[in-house]
Amino acid sequence: MSKPNQTLGEFIIENQTSFKYTSGELSRLLNSIRLAAKVVNHEVNKAGLVDIIGNAGDTNIQGEDQQKLDVYANEKFIQTLTKRNIVCGIASEEEDDFIAINSQDENNQNKYIVLIDPLDGSSNIDVNVSVGTIFSIYRRVTPLGTPVTLEDFLQKGSAQVAAGYVVYGTSTMLVYTTGDGVNGFTLNPAIGSYYLSHPNMQFPADGNIYSVNEGNYSDFPVGIKKYIKYCQEDEGERPYTSRYIGSLVSDFHRNMIKGGIYMYPKSSKNPKGKLRLLYECNPMAFIAEQANGKASDGFTRIMDIVPTELHERVPFICGSVNMVEKAEEFMRNEE
Ligand code: AHG
Ligand code: MN
Ligand code: MN
Ligand code: MN
Repeated sequence: MSKPNQTLGEFIIENQTSFKYTSGELSRLLNSIRLAAKVVNHEVNKAGLVDIIGNAGDTNIQGEDQQKLDVYANEKFIQTLTKRNIVCGIASEEEDDFIAINSQDENNQNKYIVLIDPLDGSSNIDVNVSVGTIFSIYRRVTPLGTPVTLEDFLQKGSAQVAAGYVVYGTSTMLVYTTGDGVNGFTLNPAIGSYYLSHPNMQFPADGNIYSVNEGNYSDFPVGIKKYIKYCQEDEGERPYTSRYIGSLVSDFHRNMIKGGIYMYPKSSKNPKGKLRLLYECNPMAFIAEQANGKASDGFTRIMDIVPTELHERVPFICGSVNMVEKAEEFMRNEE
């Protein structure tokens, strides 16, 4: 139950017993993510004042130019999780391979692995537009005290134990689920604590916002093109409003509160879609489903997809259930 003025720290402790697994380890892990997010938030907030804007000069495994804040956020999250010795493995959008943390040590009884998009929407950093962090938590499937393997990371999204995001927006919010609904906490920067501001978040079943990069329109599958035209038709509640920030976290957050659909379809430039199944789509799909929304690749539930590689990309359609189902109907009809 939510109480007014409840902090995230209090909420995590009070709800610890409702987790499926109650060793306290997951609470400690969530607390570390909360801490790292505060550190990153501090850096994002002063980005125009210190030399942290712009390109870091390297390309990541995704073939993207790394921004300085991509590198900074990646380091902070990995450092925080590693130093506290509370996970046995981490995989990140910014790292070529997964990181095994003392998992060959038989004294390391940590069972959780974390997958992370340390800074989402990095093309928005230089122009002072909201960015975010996305995280996804699983139990390892290989035995404790042995090194983690790729198998621990290539689990279906439906095996997630927890997932969440931080949006560094007009206010900074941390939104997460442990499979028992979705709750949102707003950071009070003067005090440095997150307070429960959005208990039990829910996608409205219908909405009137569609979010897609329409610059890629001519390349989209016919089903998506027809659905976009449907969104624009003057009929009933339509035309819908088009809103696209270009930060998945912010676009998702707005749509969850107001009702809407987010789409990143495949195109000839991105033949498998652009968004990463493990760091972006699965955690957002878990949050969406926990908030009565829906997430699919147009045909299949995102969390049912069996990953075959760490940096796998998939088409992503996510949001208010009736809108996603309508888009799926258009996709099916054009198969
Ligand atoms: P990231 O900054 O973590 O690489 O993610 C960028 C993603 C996502 O945040 C956003 O929705 C999408 O890329 C935007 O892509 P386009 O610029 O191609 O629309
Ligand atoms: Mn990136
Ligand atoms: Mn991202
Ligand atoms: Mn990123």
